[in-house]
Amino acid sequence: MTAPSNSSPFATSLRTHLAGSLRAADALTHVRLGGWVHRSRNLGGIVFLDLRDREGIVQVSFGTDWSSAECIALAAAVGVESVVMIEGTVVARTAATRNAEMGSGDIEVRATVIEVVGPAATPAIPVARGKGEKLPSEELRLRHRYLDLRRAELQQSLMLRHRLLQVTRRYLSERGYLELETPILTKPTPEGARDYLVPSRVHAGEFYALPQSPQIYKQLFMISGFDRYFQIARCFRDEDLRADRQPEFTQIDIEASFVQRDDILALAEGLIGALWREAGHEIPAHFERMTYETAMEKYGCDRPDLRYGLEILDFSTLFDGADFGITRAAIAAGGRVRGIAVPGAGSWSRKQVDELEAIAKGAGALGLLRVKKADGKYEGPVAKFLSAEAQNALALEEGALALFVAGADRITSPALDRVRQECAVRLGLVDEKVRRFLIVTDFPMFDRDPETGALGAVHHPFTAPNPEDMAAHPGEPHRWRALAYDVVLNGLELGGGSIRTHDSGMQSRMFALLGIGDPAEQERRFGFLLEGLRAGAPPHGGIAFGVDRIAMLLSGATSLRDVIAFPKTTTARALFEGAPTQVSPEEMSALHLRPEGA
Ligand code: AMO
Repeated sequence: MTAPSNSSPFATSLRTHLAGSLRAADALTHVRLGGWVHRSRNLGGIVFLDLRDREGIVQVSFGTDWSSAECIALAAAVGVESVVMIEGTVVARTAATRNAEMGSGDIEVRATVIEVVGPAATPAIPVARGKGEKLPSEELRLRHRYLDLRRAELQQSLMLRHRLLQVTRRYLSERGYLELETPILTKPTPEGARDYLVPSRVHAGEFYALPQSPQIYKQLFMISGFDRYFQIARCFRDEDLRADRQPEFTQIDIEASFVQRDDILALAEGLIGALWREAGHEIPAHFERMTYETAMEKYGCDRPDLRYGLEILDFSTLFDGADFGITRAAIAAGGRVRGIAVPGAGSWSRKQVDELEAIAKGAGALGLLRVKKADGKYEGPVAKFLSAEAQNALALEEGALALFVAGADRITSPALDRVRQECAVRLGLVDEKVRRFLIVTDFPMFDRDPETGALGAVHHPFTAPNPEDMAAHPGEPHRWRALAYDVVLNGLELGGGSIRTHDSGMQSRMFALLGIGDPAEQERRFGFLLEGLRAGAPPHGGIAFGVDRIAMLLSGATSLRDVIAFPKTTTARALFEGAPTQVSPEEMSALHLRPEGA
């Protein structure tokens, strides 16, 4: 057989084309294809095999006019998901037999040769699915991931992920960013989440940590003069998992020298624009900006979903002087009464509103106060505590329901955030086609543990505090804002970063404020950064984006697991390979570890 002149880039010594890529223009071409048997139909005189590869499916037919009896018998007997190689001619289909739902639906391949090169046992889960047919359970799919990964949806998502990474590499390389690697076996340096530890065999009782992010290394690159760095970086965090978190995930990690916040944010907007364009979406060149303070005040959350309103308002003055224990106690303790007015929700049943209260309580509120306006009158358990003046000031529209939470902001914000999100879902306000990008700036530098009063870094300890705030409130670090920023889309944090502290004295001071005051302790834990900063450090800053989250949004998936080839479950298990797993006492002892209880 001679290779066709318009040979496909996928041609090898065994095949001429990808099966799913064949089109009407290939008619009359002699082809040799390899792929998986997606479906088979035996119509007596003629056998059809749907042959599948990463490009899609092509119909291969075996008929007495062009195939040998032996060949037809082999085709009829082959099991689904077996790998076959076929040889034949591309033939245009008649109008009546065209299949508009298949990319290759204008043609079929009339096969003269079939060879079963990889016979398949009966698959544990089906790959081909009829219209409307449900997927097997996720657990089963993760257990048999090699089969699940054959599904077109997952193949498309992973191919898109590949393209997104290529765009990232091109975008950043064109701007002088160097792709540099950093170690996976590193020093334990908590960044607010938990480290995965790796015991050293050669150094008894000592451990490496897997990186939670390449943060310190990328700063060391700046100190070394590499000036613009990026990496598609694997990160590991042993934290409680949620739908938008995996224990092992990938960042687009970026750092640059001689920059200020807006330099990094302009780069971030450009990169996000390029990624969305790759997936076929034009987005605004510049994203809306909002300070952390505004986000918390209006939405109770630092990554608000701006696709809908339902903004949080301060209703404290309505309850001023009201003879109502709950609100009076909250206000007296320095708290506020905050809430949202939900149009049309006055008709929600008691049970429906109780469900909202359960959501508020789940987020830490003591309760959810309610008042609604029906037939021009205020109703509900709280109405009687509102004076006529307060009712006028509340100015609820007819049919609306107002929901209040009383307490400190750290209680009311998360509770109202959750309630707001649930109300938006119920009212059908969450439009999947709308994209509201947002940059949140001016995060606080520190937060305070409500129990111990200790300060913690909101972003991380290497973030620079806002110099204006340090000058204005020198002894009150809890009032300092940080030069930190997040990029948010529709309530999901895509990325976050900051301008860093590049002065070693200032960095030591930050550690001290975070409770690591002892210079020896600082050197022990962060000596390699402090030494670097003392060696001449340029002003620098950066950002990191979550690749998995971006790929999830752009492929229309609803779970990170659908854009990670071999993901972990919500309990951090790898079901296919069966990790984590126990190891033998000998292996443990070689690592200087003892089994639990030994
Ligand atoms: P941060 O911790 O905000 O910053 O992480 C940056 C981005 O990484 C993604 N991400 C995750 N994705 C999936 N699963 C997880 N468990 C997970 N955790 C984080 C998010 C997040 O916005 N070193 C700093 C960045 C910097 O300051 O430059 C850092 O890691 O999309």
